[in-house]
Amino acid sequence: MINSGGINSGGIDGGARGDGGADSGGRVDSGARVGTHVRTNRARWNEISDEYQRLNGPQIRRQAFTGDISWGLWEIPESRLRVLGEVDGRDVLEMGCGGGQWSTALVRRGARAVGLDLSERQLSHSRRLAADTGLGFPLVQASAEAVPFAEASFDIVFADHGAFSFADPMRAIPEAARVLRPGGLLAFSHVSPIYEVTVRPGRDSPGTRLIHDYFGLRLVAEADGLVSMNLPYGAWIRLFRDSGLIVEDLLEPRPPSPVPAAVQSDPVFDGQAVFDGQAVFDGQAVFDGQAVFDGQAVFDGQAGEASGGRDDEAWARRWPSECIWRLRKPVR
Ligand SMILES: C[S@@+](CC[C@H](N)C(=O)[O-])C[C@H]1O[C@@H](n2cnc3c(N)ncnc32)[C@H](O)[C@@H]1O
Repeated sequence: MINSGGINSGGIDGGARGDGGADSGGRVDSGARVGTHVRTNRARWNEISDEYQRLNGPQIRRQAFTGDISWGLWEIPESRLRVLGEVDGRDVLEMGCGGGQWSTALVRRGARAVGLDLSERQLSHSRRLAADTGLGFPLVQASAEAVPFAEASFDIVFADHGAFSFADPMRAIPEAARVLRPGGLLAFSHVSPIYEVTVRPGRDSPGTRLIHDYFGLRLVAEADGLVSMNLPYGAWIRLFRDSGLIVEDLLEPRPPSPVPAAVQSDPVFDGQAVFDGQAVFDGQAVFDGQAVFDGQAVFDGQAGEASGGRDDEAWARRWPSECIWRLRKPVR
């Protein structure tokens, strides 16, 4: 299945052809531009990988041992959403597999999984998990923008807040479509464009004001040093169509009620809290006076705190915090 040209002949950090940030106007800083984002993200994921796995391990590791995967910010079980459907006997590529928890779960359910990730440090966590579970599968270090597999290699390509949040969609979506077999499924989750335009300066949690340019989401310099990428809804749909994919569904999951305890304490998407040791543990930073009393009070921590949950929980009951796309490559 691997291209004879070897892994990512364009170079892992090759990234997208730069367009100089044609869509700038979002949360873009001077250092972030299309063309350097892959290098930036690889370096940053290598730096934060251990901490990310330490913080998220308790929630996401479980599924590697049970085979029950859960989607997204609110960890809604696949058994409820039925995004992937049957995986037994299917060739599955996970784009941005991180510590390999999802692919391990799918291997447990009979899939022939392959994990692809940009970060060598993240992949080292996948290898450790394989040793712990005894369930190994091929791991490939590459960018989702230049996938080192021949066309029509997989039945399913998927990611849960994986590579499609950090790679240039203009390259990653056509690549996913290329390596899918006719009739194959592309399914992935990412933070919603609506969430992105309300993220408050210096934080990764949403507010109630439209702060950032909807048309400037392609390249977003996040508070945690990563560069994320997103598109307006219409641009996503045109990109899917131009890549030969049919939209079967766009799921917009809301937090379950009650939110599971593990999710309530999940600090992943409060970027400042996750990557600033002091903020994580003193509580004050997450629910600090300014945030609570600056007029966005209802959805800025106070509500999450009041309900015993995360400070984006109340927000996500009113607006879509994430998208899960279900796309089909038609049988010609
Ligand atoms: C938020 S993590 C998600 C991983 C896993 N689903 C989880 O929740 O732990 C995103 C992953 O995407 C990877 N990634 C970022 N940019 C990528 C790219 N261009 N190609 C492949 N993987 C990429 C990162 O290294 C990271 O492991």
